[in-house]
Amino acid sequence: MEIANENEKIEFELRLQAIYQKYGYDFRNYARASLKRRIRYRLSQSNFKTISEMQHKLLNDSKFFATLLSDLTINVTEMFRDPSFFKALREIVIPELKKQPFIKVWHAGCSSGEEVYSTAILLKEEGLHNTSLIYATDTDDVVLNKAKSGIFAIDRMKDYTLNYRKAGGLASFADYYTALYDNVIMDNSLKKNIVFSNHNLVTDGVFGEMDMILCRNVFIYFNRDLQDRVFRLFSESLRPGGFLCLGTKETIRSSSFSDDFENVADHERIYGKIA
Ligand SMILES: C[S@@+](CC[C@H](N)C(=O)[O-])C[C@H]1O[C@@H](n2cnc3c(N)ncnc32)[C@H](O)[C@@H]1O
Repeated sequence: MEIANENEKIEFELRLQAIYQKYGYDFRNYARASLKRRIRYRLSQSNFKTISEMQHKLLNDSKFFATLLSDLTINVTEMFRDPSFFKALREIVIPELKKQPFIKVWHAGCSSGEEVYSTAILLKEEGLHNTSLIYATDTDDVVLNKAKSGIFAIDRMKDYTLNYRKAGGLASFADYYTALYDNVIMDNSLKKNIVFSNHNLVTDGVFGEMDMILCRNVFIYFNRDLQDRVFRLFSESLRPGGFLCLGTKETIRSSSFSDDFENVADHERIYGKIA
């Protein structure tokens, strides 16, 4: 199980190379500690003792790969996650977006969509629902399908209601969903202007002329080179004056693209693209 010695390190790198060649998912520039933790977890859940024992299944069983992919991509998320971030969006960014005739928002690394529905609610409450389009992308189809369904566990709603209130929500959070046994289904009107699609930040291209890009809790899994590549992608995808929202855990300030952006809400790591 330990990936401590030199041979195991080599095997680990070879597996990442194999995943890339076979499935086109490029984890070679993901931060190592987190990847190793996730692979150890998958080993502990299967009958393999070492990563090399796992190789045959990995390359020949696409279902096993799909499971490993979900392990590697870490999909933890919630509605109105970090409420102060959504409050800053409402108070600082939305007034600027209201000046545009139409706005395009990109949620990159949207996971199962909780964050996307939160933004849709915010846009609706701010009167931007009919003049906005949200592109919600992730590299993991399992979570994307969940996002598309708009179905979430009912037992999370208490926490989400609290987040919504702290984020400055204007209505009753329960107005946005219908209970369905142990789940809730999000209001159809919210889905109307969301386009969910598979997009890999490592290998896929630019989304043109975005007014706002949200990419929170994703960069932490990338190494410095990959972070720079993705910052370039975002810089090229945003119109001048557009907003890049990273959330509290990530910063653009240590990247080569720092000079392309000014601070808009420092603590929430919301940046404006310099014209
Ligand atoms: C921890 S979740 C963050 C979800 C949401 N943004 C939030 O903050 O609550 C990280 C997401 O990034 C996605 N991800 C990881 N690597 C990616 C890549 N190369 N391209 C697109 N999405 C990626 C994962 O599949 C996962 O759903």
